[in-house]
Amino acid sequence: MSERQTKSLSPDDAGLSEAAQVLRAGGLVSFATETVYGLGADATNDKAVARIFAAKGRPQFNPLIAHVADIAMAKRYVDWSDAADLLANAFWPGPLTLVLPLKSQSAISSLVTAGLSSLAVRLPAHPLARRLLREFGGPIAAPSANPSGKISPTTPAHVLAGLSGKIDAVVAGGNCEVGLESTIVGLLGQPSLLRSGGVPMVAIEAVLGTALTADTSPDTLIAPGQMSSHYAPGATVRLNATVWQEGELRLGFGDVDCDLNLSPSGDLVEAAAHLFQHLHALDARGSDKIAVSPIPNTGLGVAINDRLDRAAAPRL
Ligand code: TXA
Ligand code: MG
Repeated sequence: MSERQTKSLSPDDAGLSEAAQVLRAGGLVSFATETVYGLGADATNDKAVARIFAAKGRPQFNPLIAHVADIAMAKRYVDWSDAADLLANAFWPGPLTLVLPLKSQSAISSLVTAGLSSLAVRLPAHPLARRLLREFGGPIAAPSANPSGKISPTTPAHVLAGLSGKIDAVVAGGNCEVGLESTIVGLLGQPSLLRSGGVPMVAIEAVLGTALTADTSPDTLIAPGQMSSHYAPGATVRLNATVWQEGELRLGFGDVDCDLNLSPSGDLVEAAAHLFQHLHALDARGSDKIAVSPIPNTGLGVAINDRLDRAAAPRL
């Protein structure tokens, strides 16, 4: 794709109206959500969605999430269900994505679904994302706004560091509050957990009144996170470090001596919000080794450990 000037748009009416204009014209706009920055395109425009893959250098077989302005918009594109109603009422707007059967004759680009007969939909909570969705008036396909395989962005500066010159604009919306991608629940058969994320699994199970299964549907063979090396910084990553080794940059958790601390008080919500930001910051210091303290595997810790496992996986 040809290099283009990436515009920084202000987080106000004028900036959002210009952002919606760029989307209507088939362009790419990065915008803040409460989880991470998204790289948005009109989800009904094949060419625009194709540009997302080009900008990210992303393998084409990975389907995208369609962000919607409200539940009514989601219902235009997917077959809604009672379970979807329960979860949407409990967690939308918020960091939860639902995978539902795609309506036949839907206007969604088949590049968004990667040809699957299901669609991932999400109603984000960030006020700017919601205003942009309303202003645009249609579904916005948006993966995280990072080059494929790299750490997800939680600030406009991260977005520009990875994608400047490759996308049309970024709406400067400050830091992302949750800092981890949405939890993805499959509702094609038995409710299943496709990706841990911003809403803890136990909270979802409490609302459903049933346990989430591991993914079983043949439709989601291309489940998220099957790419083993993902969220990877340039440095190698060593996990569960209780002693630090020579030459390592130390990413701590709890009351430990380290270079950057995810949460000195051991708070998992705070740790999630800092995760990608701290990985970016340590990576920028140029050492080839990062070591990370053990993170308890409860609540949001499950999602944090999932992302860290991928960051530490052997590179493809
Ligand atoms: O928090 C988030 O979810 C962020 C923000 C921008 O909303 N988005 C995000 O998108 O993380 P992305 O593209 O990085 O991850 C979307 C995941 C992918 O792993 C993909 O495999 C999965 O959603 N996915 C999308 N559609 C699917 C489908 N029909 N069936 C199964 N998995 C699907
Ligand atoms: Mg991503």
